[in-house]
Amino acid sequence: MKCAPGAPVTAEMRSMLSAIREGGEVMRKIVRDFIDFQALQDGRLTLQAVRLDVNALARQARLAHEGYARSKNIRVLCELENGLPDVSVDPDRIQQVLANLLGNAIKFSPPGARVTLRSRREGQGVCLEVADEGPGLSPADLERVFVKYARLSAKPTGGEKSSGLGLSIAKMLVELHGGRIGVFNNPDRGATFWFTLP
Ligand SMILES: Nc1ncnc2c1ncn2[C@@H]1O[C@H](COP(=O)(O)OP(=O)(O)OP(=O)(O)O)[C@@H](O)[C@H]1O
Ligand SMILES: [Mg+2]
Repeated sequence: MKCAPGAPVTAEMRSMLSAIREGGEVMRKIVRDFIDFQALQDGRLTLQAVRLDVNALARQARLAHEGYARSKNIRVLCELENGLPDVSVDPDRIQQVLANLLGNAIKFSPPGARVTLRSRREGQGVCLEVADEGPGLSPADLERVFVKYARLSAKPTGGEKSSGLGLSIAKMLVELHGGRIGVFNNPDRGATFWFTLP
């Protein structure tokens, strides 16, 4: 395609530019994940903790994923318990955990499914959960789900990228906060990923 200086931007050029921008975003995420993974493994990542209400983080995460979910005809619901104690966390790092769990729920669910983000009190701290109506995890998947580069039975339903680092990073970030992370299959369908913050 030839392009003279000052020529109008055509629809074809616009769609090429948007593909280039998307490709750049994907590369940026892969590089950032890889750097974070190495820093976590080497014990070089430090937290910038502040006391806050996790429900605010959950609402932000939902808002940030609304466009993506809508593009796959998936609804994201919030069921957040009132009166939770404030917790001491690094907001950017907990957003990163929520982004991977919510992103996964949307990435591996079929169109029309619902994703539910929940919060509740757990002892002196809180527990956050992301429940989906996707394929769930096989017994073999459940053994390896937090292992790095694990790409398991579930495949992205909208052609998204899957590098298998997100959950291993999430696990290390949650544990760095003194919390625990896990997953179970729902009785009807789909999986629920949860993590606690003390
Ligand atoms: N909600 C889910 N339902 C079913 N399988 C899932 C779910 N979330 C993750 N998985 C499986 O676990 C694997 C690892 O997830 P993980 O988030 O670590 O990597 P990813 O999403 O493939 O890539 P990325 O590094 O971009 O996060 C996925 O490839 C998928 O097979
Ligand atoms: Mg992921």
